[in-house]
Amino acid sequence: MPPTLNLNLNTKAKTGLTVFIVLAVLLIAALSIYVDLRHRARNRSAATATATTSTPPTSNKTFKAIDLLAFNGTDPAKPIYIGYEGKVYDVTAGKDFYATGGDYHWLAGKDATDALHLFGGDIIKNKYPPVGTIIPDPSGQTNTAQVPESLTLLLQQQGAPAK
Ligand code: HEM
Repeated sequence: MPPTLNLNLNTKAKTGLTVFIVLAVLLIAALSIYVDLRHRARNRSAATATATTSTPPTSNKTFKAIDLLAFNGTDPAKPIYIGYEGKVYDVTAGKDFYATGGDYHWLAGKDATDALHLFGGDIIKNKYPPVGTIIPDPSGQTNTAQVPESLTLLLQQQGAPAK
C-alpha cells in the first residue's frame, strides 16, 4: 500500500489549526495595512518637504545698495547677492560666474539693474531666489555695476547675445 498522509486529526486539533490559520491571516492583513499606512505617511511628508523647498524663500531683509558690497563673491563663506529692479537675488548657486575670477564677478555685490537691462535680467529673475529688497539710502551712496569696456565693445559690435 502506498504511504498516505494521515490527516485524521481529532476535532480539538482541527479547531486549534483553524484558529491558528485565522490568527495568522489576521496578523498578515494587519501588518500589510500598517506598512501601507507608513508608506503613505512617508510619501506625504516627502511631498510636504518638496513643497517647502521648492517655494522660493521669502525674506523681508532690506539692504541699502551699498550693503550689497559685503556679498560680492570675494569671501567664499558668504552668499553672493545681486540687486536687480529693487530686489536682491542670491546668486551663490552661480558662483562660477560671480565669485572672484568669474566672468560676471563685476555684477556681484552691486545694484546691477542698468547692466542687466542690456542682457541677463530675465536669467537672474528666473534662476535665482530673491532674498530681500533694496531700500533708499539717505546718505545717497550708490553702488552700481559698470559694464566693462570689453563687453560694451562686444555689445556694440555683435548686439546682445541670443537668449
Ligand atoms: C551688459 C553686458 C552683459 C551682461 C550684464 C550679461 C549678463 C549675463 C548674465 C547675468 C548671465 C547669466 C549667468 C548665470 O547663469 O547666472 C549671462 C550669461 C551669458 N552671457 Fe552675458 N552678459 C553681458 C554681455 C554678454 C556678451 C557681450 C556676450 C557674448 C557676446 C555674453 C555671453 C553670455 C553667454 C554665452 C552666457 C551663458 C553662459 C552659460 O550659461 O554658460 N554676455 N550673461
